[in-house]
Amino acid sequence: MDLSLISLVNKLQDVFASIGVSNNIDLPQITVIGSQSSGKSSVLENIVGRDFLPRGTGIVTRRPLVLQLINRPAAAKPAGEVKDEDLADKTDKMQLNQNNPDEWGEFLHLPGQKFHDFHKIREEIVRDTEKMTGKNAGISPNPINLRIFSPNVLTLTLVDLPGLTKVPVGDQPRDIEKQIRDMLMRFISKPNAIILAVTGANTDLANSDGLKMAREVDPEGTRTIGVLTKVDLMDQGTDVVDILAGRVIPLRLGYVPVVNRGQRDIDQSKSIALALENEKRFFENHASYSSKAMYCGTPWLAKKLNIILMHHIRSTLPDIKARISQQLQKYTAELAALGGPMGETNPGSVVLSTITEFCSEFRSAIDGNTNDLSLNE
Ligand code: GDP
Ligand code: NA
Ligand code: MG
Repeated sequence: MDLSLISLVNKLQDVFASIGVSNNIDLPQITVIGSQSSGKSSVLENIVGRDFLPRGTGIVTRRPLVLQLINRPAAAKPAGEVKDEDLADKTDKMQLNQNNPDEWGEFLHLPGQKFHDFHKIREEIVRDTEKMTGKNAGISPNPINLRIFSPNVLTLTLVDLPGLTKVPVGDQPRDIEKQIRDMLMRFISKPNAIILAVTGANTDLANSDGLKMAREVDPEGTRTIGVLTKVDLMDQGTDVVDILAGRVIPLRLGYVPVVNRGQRDIDQSKSIALALENEKRFFENHASYSSKAMYCGTPWLAKKLNIILMHHIRSTLPDIKARISQQLQKYTAELAALGGPMGETNPGSVVLSTITEFCSEFRSAIDGNTNDLSLNE
């Protein structure tokens, strides 16, 4: 079944907008945690499909980055023309046009300034980080707020966070470990947060700081996905097959192995499109993964996130429906008091039938999709 979370959610949001209900679907925030340089920023960037996050060795991410993706239909095309595709397909699309006039970023601290060049977005993140924390490895819990408007994204919030470190360097305070922990805790303890616990595949999973912290706030593992980065850097003859099979530290939602760009790729400005191609080839040609290649890599991680988001939306639908009918009752009563038109042409009933239709469409989309793709492979 060809599922389109993006167009379904947009339809719902349009309905809300038309009756003036704001803050409608409280979609989960996707947060990344893990040790410093485990590849958190790289994973997020691959999910979004655009080059704009500072990455590299050492402590690069020094303030939380709250990244709001906001779906906004392309200006020229009527909304009906937006094609039904899932997150992964959208990701592919986005790399094709790096400077799309319909896509831009805006920082909360620079209101009204549109960044169409995503490299400039990265420069501004670095500039504002240094302004707040200095150049010498200082950190701050004060987040940078960035919104990205695009026809190709799901309206959703992602949070990039500093990595866990133990030993202070540069201008870092002596209790750096505790400061970062507290900062991360604030984000991941929200019941609404989906946690991507990132661990380098070339390190010992048992020592994974990300997994340890995730388990503290999500002991049942209902909102934690394990992400294994740097699978390409593992020693010859070793692999993550045991971890994927749940034989090392089982996780209810499982693990996804990925291959991000290495430092050399970053230095040579290798594109995301090329990196994703390289990742695909890696898993398809590797003796340990070739038979399960579709469950490996960034596209599968995006699909998994999609499914989790759908489950989340499904569980909030009854509440959304209740809120809408409440609103409608009020609206209808107001209309009646004004002596306005009622019955067949009542705009309220049109909205209610749209939302009812949406709910059933959404349910069947989810049911079809979850039959195809089990969360545990
Ligand atoms: P963060 O500190 O956790 O946000 O990690 P970054 O995303 O900044 O990455 C840290 C370093 O690891 C960078 O030099 C990346 O190029 C490198 N890196 C991240 N993921 C991978 C991977 O899957 N394979 C390889 N070879 N390098 C990676
Ligand atoms: Na880093
Ligand atoms: Mg980072």
